[in-house]
Amino acid sequence: MPVKIRTQVGIIGAGPAGLLLAYMLRRAGIDSVILEKRSRSYILGRVRAGVMEQATRDLLIELGLGDRLCRDGLLHKGFEIRFANERRRIDLSELTGGKVITVYGQQEVVKDLLAALEQENYPLHFEIDDVHLEGIDEGAPCIRGRGAEGPIEISCDFIAGCDGFYGVSRPSIPDGVLSVLSREYPFAWLSILAEAPSASHELIYAHHQRGGAIYSMRNKRLSRHNLQCDPDGAAKSWPADKIWDELEVRLNADNSERLPRGPILDRVITRMRSFVVEPMQYGSLFLAGDAAHIVPPTGAKGMNLAVADIKCLAAGFIEHYRAGRRDKLNAYSTICLARIWRVQRFSWWMTSMFHRFPDQDTFTAHMQIAELDHATGSQAAAASLAENYVGLPHSC
Ligand code: FAD
Ligand code: DHB
Repeated sequence: MPVKIRTQVGIIGAGPAGLLLAYMLRRAGIDSVILEKRSRSYILGRVRAGVMEQATRDLLIELGLGDRLCRDGLLHKGFEIRFANERRRIDLSELTGGKVITVYGQQEVVKDLLAALEQENYPLHFEIDDVHLEGIDEGAPCIRGRGAEGPIEISCDFIAGCDGFYGVSRPSIPDGVLSVLSREYPFAWLSILAEAPSASHELIYAHHQRGGAIYSMRNKRLSRHNLQCDPDGAAKSWPADKIWDELEVRLNADNSERLPRGPILDRVITRMRSFVVEPMQYGSLFLAGDAAHIVPPTGAKGMNLAVADIKCLAAGFIEHYRAGRRDKLNAYSTICLARIWRVQRFSWWMTSMFHRFPDQDTFTAHMQIAELDHATGSQAAAASLAENYVGLPHSC
């Protein structure tokens, strides 16, 4: 006999999007249940994004999730761009009227959300296989899956598809409904997390003829770095010394700033793509976060976009259950997509500017340098870069 659960919103996926939605709905007195494919320890250990926009930070603090964020998150008022022997600082705070970014790992956000939900005995079901959606176009949706205790069945009013790029929600929408717009880039990122103190207290984005590099950190002991690499290469083919040597070359480190090295705790190669589906809703299914869109990570926007979607989606559910109106739910896709496309543009622009393309000719290389020179040398252009990097205001 399946375990049968009735709830208002069935949520698929316990990444930042699903967990935040569950938390916001719980605060508003709306019932939901999460089904997650992976284990609790797996989602807590998943190292991913680390740069938080001002509006993401403000929202988490407003929701009462800011204790560890304010204590351990690193406030950054600027970052450095290196190219063609130049080192230019983008003063984010000055260029945006005081806004900043916060370096705080995505897995810390997941940890905070999970702790807050578990404190209230929130129904979160881990290690659920074979999740599939039924009745999304009939107004009586149902999610079925299989857990350690056997089949599970969630009947609900709405389904939130927060199950990332490879999830089941988006493919449950009938063929022909969604427009899929995407671009694959001919390179990937090798991302490492290393037990090594950071050499710089601010992020460094580097353009180099051998490929792009990003120098980042998590705290005084842990550094996080990204190197442009071949998408078909294996992370194992990068011995530790090669990674550190390559980082030093691409960051144009001089003798006075050799990178502190240390054991590499995590390394992963991620392909880069831009991807959007339109609309983000079908019947009673709403897609949010990576389930609906992917940005190349160069703009550091993935988690922030997921948070922005959820703010709108939660507002829509709250309006529906409190006021009996669907205006915000009906506008969800249109409002989110307007912001998503602006963020796609920024992420695509940053990606085009910092990476070496395989077929790149000398003219293109000059265009990149000119773009970097303009973006960092013109007050107006730097202000535009800063406005986007600290994050556009939320639309809901
Ligand atoms: P996810 O975090 O992907 O969460 C989806 C959840 O759904 C997962 O827990 C998954 O296990 C679960 N799920 C999937 N399928 C099913 C199913 N069938 N049934 C039930 N549950 C399911 N962004 C940056 O800005 N900078 C970075 O450096 C960066 N690095 C990244 C590195 C990697 C390897 C990846 C994959 C992403 C990275 N991103 C980065 C993007 C950023 O992490 C995502 O945008 C963010 O995680 C989106 O959150 P989400 O909740 O929408 O999706
Ligand atoms: C980090 C991730 C990014 O995507 C980026 O552009 C800069 C820094 C990070 O994980 O710290």
